[in-house]
Amino acid sequence: MQLDGKIALVTGAGRGIGRAVAELLAREGATVILVARTEAELAATVAAIRDAGGQARAIPGDLTQDAFVEHLFAAIRQEFGRLDILVNSAGMAPFGPVEELPVQKFRECLELNVVAVFACMQQAIRLMKETGGRGKILNIGSVRSHWSEGGDGGAYNASKYGLRGLTESVARQLHGSGLEIAVGMVCPGVVDTPLTNPGREPRPEWLRPEMVAEAVLHALTAPPGVNVYDTTLFAMFQKPW
Ligand SMILES: NC(=O)c1ccc[n+]([C@@H]2O[C@H](COP(=O)([O-])OP(=O)(O)OC[C@H]3O[C@@H](n4cnc5c(N)ncnc54)[C@H](OP(=O)(O)O)[C@@H]3O)[C@@H](O)[C@H]2O)c1
Repeated sequence: MQLDGKIALVTGAGRGIGRAVAELLAREGATVILVARTEAELAATVAAIRDAGGQARAIPGDLTQDAFVEHLFAAIRQEFGRLDILVNSAGMAPFGPVEELPVQKFRECLELNVVAVFACMQQAIRLMKETGGRGKILNIGSVRSHWSEGGDGGAYNASKYGLRGLTESVARQLHGSGLEIAVGMVCPGVVDTPLTNPGREPRPEWLRPEMVAEAVLHALTAPPGVNVYDTTLFAMFQKPW
């Protein structure tokens, strides 16, 4: 149990990568707070964690609403008094050629993939500073945080490049500040989740959410004083650049 007694918040924990992360952190002893909008999916994740002997609590809501993020962290303060780990996995991926994708879709993508992560990091760092100045924050980026694969991914690419800029900037702010708050990212290639494979076709060559969760755990369990800043996972069939 590598995370025994830790309090962890995982966004996007109703399905896909966030759910796999939440389940693994709970198996490693963390009490996991799960966020997404769909209550039934959160309830299923909480049930799976509890059935396996873990501890979990769902707080449903929309992370693009500032009032919800404030409510979420007020609830964490009240119920747990601190936060040790934040994993930002909630995200969306509107794909389409630039001349066709509605501008509003791009705006929604930035709101969730970048602005909502900023809001959660802001609240988490405030809480971590107030309660001893320790913690770990990991953002789920993408290989598209580092490279463009061209095609119709411009809006998603821009959001994930933006997320990398945010992550790098906050990590640099905190390194050497005297605080033990490590900020980093895990950047997967294509992962078999409802986002990428809604029809659940067999995709044995793709990454699985559990592989990303293992990379998250690896980063979270680095020795004291070490920040595993960026773990990038490619599916071998993908041409990375
Ligand atoms: N799958 C891939 O190939 C892949 C590759 C690289 C990176 N990523 C990144 O990994 C992360 C997770 O992707 P995934 O494939 O696991 O996606 P997913 O299966 O669609 O899961 C996304 C999760 O985010 C939640 N969410 C979406 N909008 C939200 C909102 N406004 N407020 C709160 N929660 C919200 C969803 O629940 P609700 O809809 O119920 O809110 C769901 O639980 C994303 O950041 C994605 O960009 C994915």
